[in-house]
Amino acid sequence: MSRRFFRPAPRLRGTVTAPPDKSLSHRAALLAAMAAEPVFVANYLQAEDTLATLRAVEALGVLVETRDDGLLLRGPGLRAAAEPGRTIDVGNAGTLIRLLPGWLAGQSGGGSWTLDGDASIRRRPMGRIAEPLRAMGAHLEAAGDFAPLSIEGRNLTGIDYAMPVASAQVKSCVLLAGILADGRTSVVEPAPSRDHTERLLLRGGVDVRRKGATVSVGTLDELELESIVIPGDPSSAAFHAAAAVLVPGSRIVISDMAANWTRVGFYRILQRMGGIVVGPLEEEPAGLPSVEPVCELDVCHGPLVGTSVERGEVPLAIDELPLVALLGCFAEGETVVRGAEELRHKESDRIATVVDGLRGLGADIEATPDGFAVRGTGGLDGGVIAAHADHRLAMLGAVAGLASRNGVEVDGIEAAAVSYPGFVDDLAALSGS
Ligand code: S3P
Repeated sequence: MSRRFFRPAPRLRGTVTAPPDKSLSHRAALLAAMAAEPVFVANYLQAEDTLATLRAVEALGVLVETRDDGLLLRGPGLRAAAEPGRTIDVGNAGTLIRLLPGWLAGQSGGGSWTLDGDASIRRRPMGRIAEPLRAMGAHLEAAGDFAPLSIEGRNLTGIDYAMPVASAQVKSCVLLAGILADGRTSVVEPAPSRDHTERLLLRGGVDVRRKGATVSVGTLDELELESIVIPGDPSSAAFHAAAAVLVPGSRIVISDMAANWTRVGFYRILQRMGGIVVGPLEEEPAGLPSVEPVCELDVCHGPLVGTSVERGEVPLAIDELPLVALLGCFAEGETVVRGAEELRHKESDRIATVVDGLRGLGADIEATPDGFAVRGTGGLDGGVIAAHADHRLAMLGAVAGLASRNGVEVDGIEAAAVSYPGFVDDLAALSGS
């Protein structure tokens, strides 16, 4: 594991292009695999997680051709996933292991597949996808609630599924199985979560309907997608935005960032806390759009006040909540996050690792069963933070270092490569170090 020291930055300046979106890259590769004709994907994320997805779809019969301007993927089509005859290794990619079974379970011509991943994947609950898939008639075996997963292709039947947790991964898995199933499939979300799968399926010719908290899909013969352009990742860009808000004298521009309203909850929280973030974030649309809006953001340092984040807002900022904890250390008053017990099931138990990590740097922060409470003390001293093989924790430590009084050493900084291999270089370019 490599350690890296992040010293306090005098200020951040410049423009950064957000790296390609991870959620959309996973979905682009999976939907290209399911499509009837070749699909051109521009700006695919070249990071550990999404390279695992490319390898997985190759094992399932996709031909991946690298061109100057992107990737051309020739899939086997909706009902013809190949059998690799070996375990598919998802690495650290939770989205891959939760979405792929939706497609494989619905292979009505039969076939069997096994999916497995690293130590963190083997700790992440899989019952949440197994339960609805089995209700559709799928054959799926897991080691209790955990990977490895074995799946056999079956003819599925559509269901109406009320999700107990607001999870875009579970929703997407059921919708992918739904387009292969007989009849309609509907999912009711307890709170809105990212809707990239729905938007892409709509573009691909699926009869997708959204009404209130319910999204439903009809069955489909062939998925038709010609090209997918991946915008920048708001979850990755959030680390730069937080650094710019925290370090006095900073002003940065984030270009080419996805502005989908289901992904930008963090930027709205940042604005509420007093951070200066200017740019056209998407408002909740009346219907379901088929496009992914893109924006440019202007972010400046500003004094912060504490805020509270409640359950309904959690899925819209789920991967950025560690950064809300960091901002809270610098804000006046208290910052509280509630209804976020899902954080315990991420790449690490992010309630425990964030609270322990920031406390080790001098924060006044407490864990609660479903979130955390931070009292702002005007800043952070610094010290050492362990990444726990969690990419977002590694990047959190780096940003904490830039904003701290004495700097932060991140133990395990290489984890950032799971979603953002160029992170350290981009942050260094902005901070002039
Ligand atoms: C993701 C959904 C979220 C998020 C994860 C990516 C996705 O997980 O935390 O990083 O691409 O669908 P859940 O849907 O399980 O909350």
